[in-house]
Amino acid sequence: MDQNQESRLLLGIGGGISAYKSVDLVRRLKERGFDVRVVMTHAATTLVTPLTFQAVSGHPVRTTLLDATAEAGMSHIELARWADWLLIAPATADLMARLAAGIADDLLTTLALATEAPLCLAPAMNQHMWRHPATQENLHILRERGARILGPAEGDQACGDVGPGRMLEPIEIAEAMRPVTVHQLTGARILLTAGPTREPLDPVRYLSNRSSGRMGYALASALGSLGAEVVLVSGPTALAQPRIAELIQVETALDMRAAVMTQVSSCDIFVATAAVADYRPAESAGRKIKKDADELVLRLVRNPDILAEVADLASPPFTVGFAAETDDLERHALAKLTAKGLDMIAANQVGGAQGGFERDDNALTVFWKDGRRDLPLMSKTRLAQTLAELIAERYRGRHAAST
Ligand code: CTP
Repeated sequence: MDQNQESRLLLGIGGGISAYKSVDLVRRLKERGFDVRVVMTHAATTLVTPLTFQAVSGHPVRTTLLDATAEAGMSHIELARWADWLLIAPATADLMARLAAGIADDLLTTLALATEAPLCLAPAMNQHMWRHPATQENLHILRERGARILGPAEGDQACGDVGPGRMLEPIEIAEAMRPVTVHQLTGARILLTAGPTREPLDPVRYLSNRSSGRMGYALASALGSLGAEVVLVSGPTALAQPRIAELIQVETALDMRAAVMTQVSSCDIFVATAAVADYRPAESAGRKIKKDADELVLRLVRNPDILAEVADLASPPFTVGFAAETDDLERHALAKLTAKGLDMIAANQVGGAQGGFERDDNALTVFWKDGRRDLPLMSKTRLAQTLAELIAERYRGRHAAST
């Protein structure tokens, strides 16, 4: 990696005996181009001194949350924002339990809640602790939320047992971190639409839909984590701005189209996750409509299809659409891929027990001209990371093919 591609990695050290191996891990990560800052739990400081990690990382090591001097330098919130990645190695059973429960009773667990950086864990514990249903349930929760789990390995343990629970070797962890951190989209500018649109009937009423915008926002963050410069054009949502270059807020489909058309010529990739209203009221009353009549007929007119317009440009960006289908997913998705002239389409089944609007999880099947990939039911955060990597892979593939 060159200097521009250096990834900022926050390394959390838990109180497991393998904490001593994490000294070497810092070196291995730095060799691979990471800028590493270390945070230790109290238990970890009883096993290895903070000074050791300071010497190998080249940065002061934080150990407590309520440290006035350290907070005056880089506060824990700044540290949480600074990180591109949060890696916890060793991740003890206790740490995993606190992370799964969302407890923030020390600096490391507070940072885990405060950061938007993807979480990677290298578990290390006695084999019985690892196999315990409580640990396995916590593992499941963390995975579902998008955490990446590295290991553990099987073999001789410090306590004399033999079995699963050994932390992976530093070199294995550092290598495992590399593929996900290669900035596959560095230099790419990505335009995304997200959320619903609101189509006004009068100054106080509108037509809209149930889209929460969560999938689009998660995807914007995930694409940003791969190094892309992301511009998000969003309809009204209750979500906080993800860590991206620019957020443009709009209300109606026509506003969304105008914002997209202004931005699109400078973009390499366009991803349409927005649930754009297909129709808008033919007229929007200047004043609040009064309930004078027994019956009110609304005349609706078609909204422009933003995605189709972008794909139809003379030199379109790499274009990714979404399709929500209640039946015959593959046929409908492929028909839209062809009809709109897209590079990729991510389709999800709606109306059943599976994920979709207003839910935290979702499943997608992604189609392109001569291929497909099934992304099974998982949290929207994890799904977004997987989809972002697939977009990067297909985009880079097309790029390589055309150069
Ligand atoms: N889309 C868009 N502008 C619109 C409508 C849809 O950009 N006016 C985009 C969405 O963001 C999504 C995809 O197109 O990426 C959805 O395609 P569409 O054919 O509109 O899906 P449905 O509305 O589900 O279509 P249909 O009702 O015909 O199944």
